[in-house]
Amino acid sequence: MTPKLIDPFARPISYLRVSVTDRCDFRCVYCMAENMTFLPKKELLTLEELDRMCTTFIGLGVEKLRITGGEPLVRRDIMTFFHAMTRHLDSGALQELTLTTNGSQLERFADDLYAAGVRRVNISLDTLDEEKFARVTRWGRLPQVLRGIDAAQKAGLRVKINTVALKGFNEDELFTLTDWCASRDMDLTFIEVMPMGDLGNEDRVGQYWSLEDLRDQLRERFTLTDLPERTGGPARYVRLEETGQKLGFITPLTHNFCESCNRVRLTCTGELFMCLGQEDNADLRAALRNHPDSNAPLEEAIRAAIALKPKGHDFDYSRQRADGQVSRHMSHTGG
Ligand code: GTP
Ligand code: 5AD
Ligand code: SF4
Repeated sequence: MTPKLIDPFARPISYLRVSVTDRCDFRCVYCMAENMTFLPKKELLTLEELDRMCTTFIGLGVEKLRITGGEPLVRRDIMTFFHAMTRHLDSGALQELTLTTNGSQLERFADDLYAAGVRRVNISLDTLDEEKFARVTRWGRLPQVLRGIDAAQKAGLRVKINTVALKGFNEDELFTLTDWCASRDMDLTFIEVMPMGDLGNEDRVGQYWSLEDLRDQLRERFTLTDLPERTGGPARYVRLEETGQKLGFITPLTHNFCESCNRVRLTCTGELFMCLGQEDNADLRAALRNHPDSNAPLEEAIRAAIALKPKGHDFDYSRQRADGQVSRHMSHTGG
């Protein structure tokens, strides 16, 4: 049996996030610049190459695969790739095949995703107000996403809503969002905004709403009970006793979760990022393309990359500035 992937801090790596495109039909202010230059198609891994990459990682012990982007569902023929991954669920090698999406294309793809073996989907949504939604996503339209969410639930997919907590933007919707998710039996996870990308005029420190503060506000109305539950992701969960619903918190700023990090990120060009909050990456595309008949060089390149996985990110706003910033946009690695 091949040894599993273990990093220098004794963390087993069992979760691969794969960005299948850098493109998106939205331009969320904390994720992309308004005028993005996208990669030429020849730079992208083909669907066959993505399959070979993922299959190799699964052979090395990866049990959870999350497809991201940009927006993963805008990649042409992406369902072919999802259906190809079903075989790893069937064999039992893969425990979960899932995706993080902005929801815009779910009306079209929800049934097909379910058929491919996807059971859970994380949908990004920061506001239920149409005008605010248009502002934060720049190009997005809320009704289309709401139809996508309906379609996902109708198809039998469990939905988790991801909401970036933004000061002065969605603070006033804390209870509206919470109640809405409860009424639709959806989980809800809040995320602290991270200093990524070319910040330009964006004031991250000003936008930052700490989840400590958000939790205090929740306590004014609800009793929060910590849950031991882990999905393999960074979220820590609580149950709201009054409604029974589950809420998650992703707190890179107020409570670091790097010590239990189990994931690495593959970009659509085959770079492997060992940490979301660091610049280090390894080129896996060469090892893949230069050796069409042998996976050994790719496996070796993966192991060498994992051996360089850093301890964690250095994001920090405590000095009233965005320290530990990485220049890469979030859309490059899909969060
Ligand atoms: P589940 O727990 O399986 O639902 O998923 P997840 O939380 O791993 O995935 P999701 O795509 O919903 O992640 C939500 C967001 O959390 C990401 O988009 C990132 O913003 C953030 N996040 C996920 N992993 C990390 C990480 O390793 N480091 C940091 N700093 N943030 C992360
Ligand atoms: N900080 C925190 N979360 C972010 N996301 C995108 N950019 C940022 C950022 N700078 C989130 C999106 C989505 C996921 C892919 O990443 O809202 O939920
Ligand atoms: Fe697109 Fe998601 Fe980035 Fe928004 S956060 S621009 S939906 S990739």
